[in-house]
Amino acid sequence: MREVANRLELLPEYLFAELDAAKASYGEGVIDFGVGNPDRPTHPEIINALVRAVADHNTHRYPDYQGTLTLRRDICSWYKTRFGVEIDPETEVCVLIGSKEGISHLIWGLVNPDEEVIYPDPSYPVYRNQTLLAGGSSTPAPLLEENQYLMQIQRLRATQKTKLLILNYPSNPTGAVSTPIHFSEAVQFARSHNLWLVNDNCYSEIYFDDPPPSVLSVPGAKDCAVEFGSFSKTFNMAGWRLGFAVGNPRMIDALKRIKTNTDSGPFTAIQRAAQTAIELTEGIAPGIRKLYKARRGTLLSGLNRLGWIMPPPKATFYVWARIPKKGQTSLGFAKRMLADTGVLVTPGIGFGEAGEGYVRFSLTLERAQIEEAVDRLAKWL
Ligand SMILES: Cc1ncc(COP(=O)(O)O)c(C=O)c1O
Repeated sequence: MREVANRLELLPEYLFAELDAAKASYGEGVIDFGVGNPDRPTHPEIINALVRAVADHNTHRYPDYQGTLTLRRDICSWYKTRFGVEIDPETEVCVLIGSKEGISHLIWGLVNPDEEVIYPDPSYPVYRNQTLLAGGSSTPAPLLEENQYLMQIQRLRATQKTKLLILNYPSNPTGAVSTPIHFSEAVQFARSHNLWLVNDNCYSEIYFDDPPPSVLSVPGAKDCAVEFGSFSKTFNMAGWRLGFAVGNPRMIDALKRIKTNTDSGPFTAIQRAAQTAIELTEGIAPGIRKLYKARRGTLLSGLNRLGWIMPPPKATFYVWARIPKKGQTSLGFAKRMLADTGVLVTPGIGFGEAGEGYVRFSLTLERAQIEEAVDRLAKWL
């Protein structure tokens, strides 16, 4: 009998088969807060820039592996304006086919078999799963409500085997934002234990109060850290697949060495359109923030009226909510709620053990649907 690779067994079982079955059996009319997939179209000027770029046959050849120099320069200027951080476009930035691709490849470029990666729990599952695929061991660091979901850096333990610390602020799924002091603690911890540090900053522009900081603003951070950014959320460009990594040149080089042996970079036409996106950031991002803020308000005020109380997220388009019914798992609760009301949320256990007891609502739905969901839940809760 032919076998597939053993490493596939390292990946967790797909938890949500029962939820998928419940969704299919509910049929039409499910209100799906499950997937974090921006629902609004990309801005027409970005689309026009793409159309022009596609018509130019110079974009049809293999792209530059690390991204076009013009886009890299634009990313660096944006970093300077937004975060006050100087990035060298030659050695400290790499354009990606989405930040997911870069996070995965960077882990492969940094982590040897048996080396340890500390990652946030709950979090985007890619950090843990790519660590396991690369043969590393993954250690969850819990993000707790009582700490405003900030990773407790002073409680982390590093050994000789610890190689990488991953942060994700603004945080999916909790919506938490880090602070300059918290980021400084993380940089200090990484430097004193000789670790690499990553902050996945792909929700940096989806915020509701003060703009979230960059870990690279901490003095000395570039000695050990890289940050990821994404066009997916800021510009409703999730399907286009474009992101970037900036920071420590050795880390960027490790990422590029894996990348050049795996993919050939994002389509040059998309990179050109991305320059238009960056130019229009101040025209586009405030509208996107306003949209999610209104949706957040509709969901939170609706749920609060029903007695389901949760802190408002400071950033991202997610609402992270403790389950209001005692004694149920997050999966059991989500399945019951879906079967009874047709409202679908993601069970917190899907983001790690510390996510148990919570569910995640994604705000990528129109307000009318959010209102309808609250009406349905009113009868149920
Ligand atoms: C925390 C986090 N990081 C990275 C990604 C991947 O984004 P991209 O579209 O840039 O690959 C996501 C997507 O949902 C995410 O939630």
